[in-house]
Amino acid sequence: MTIETDEDLLALKEIGHIVAVTLKEMVQQVEPGMTTRELDQIGKVLLSSNGAQSAPKVTYNFPGYTCISINEEAAHGVPGRRVIQSGDVVNIDVSAEKNGYFADTGGTFVVPPSNRFKNRLIASAKSALSQACRNARAGNPLNVIGKSIQNVAKKSKFRIIKNLCGHGIGRGLHEAPQKIPGYYEPRDKRRLHKGLVIAIEPFLSTKSRFVTESDDGWTLIGSKGNLSAQFEHTVVITEGRPIVLTVA
Ligand code: CO
Ligand code: CO
Repeated sequence: MTIETDEDLLALKEIGHIVAVTLKEMVQQVEPGMTTRELDQIGKVLLSSNGAQSAPKVTYNFPGYTCISINEEAAHGVPGRRVIQSGDVVNIDVSAEKNGYFADTGGTFVVPPSNRFKNRLIASAKSALSQACRNARAGNPLNVIGKSIQNVAKKSKFRIIKNLCGHGIGRGLHEAPQKIPGYYEPRDKRRLHKGLVIAIEPFLSTKSRFVTESDDGWTLIGSKGNLSAQFEHTVVITEGRPIVLTVA
């Protein structure tokens, strides 16, 4: 969507804050031995106590409240019986709706102990998001987002998962502009405009450039032994730095 009124911005900030707080709290409560379903329940309670509904559930009938993806799972991991272990690379993605407005956030962390390689992967994905946000401004081509992510991936020698993209958001979870590539696509002639609401979500990986759907029909997985990291913010495009909505 494109923001038209102060009400739009206030409502988006509210749901942005709710998903950010939910993500932060879930990350803080992770412990080895916990199942992903138990972790998801924490998210469920936080969303509902704030008057929000899980976006993947209301939009796609996703069998969970948040997406929890571990190690070779890159995205859309279904909460279930999987037990979280020490050393796991865990991604939590929280998107939700309140009063007809949507926001989407995500982050990746390691359940201690970590190592330098995993830490570097995560720091690089975080840096890719901040570089992409820095360059996403009104008047710029939309592909500055992918270009910024690609520069960070190249410098840090990680790969980009090409079939996981950012997207427009606001009145729905996934809106125009659809498929905002996480790599530089020179043929993409779209431009960013003031007030546009988008989710920016770089996915960096150690091996895989593509992920495939697993047997559960939801979880997107890389090749054996692949690790990936994603960070995501929902932002409003301005003439300067974007307004980040997903802040705790
Ligand atoms: Co997300
Ligand atoms: Co998203």
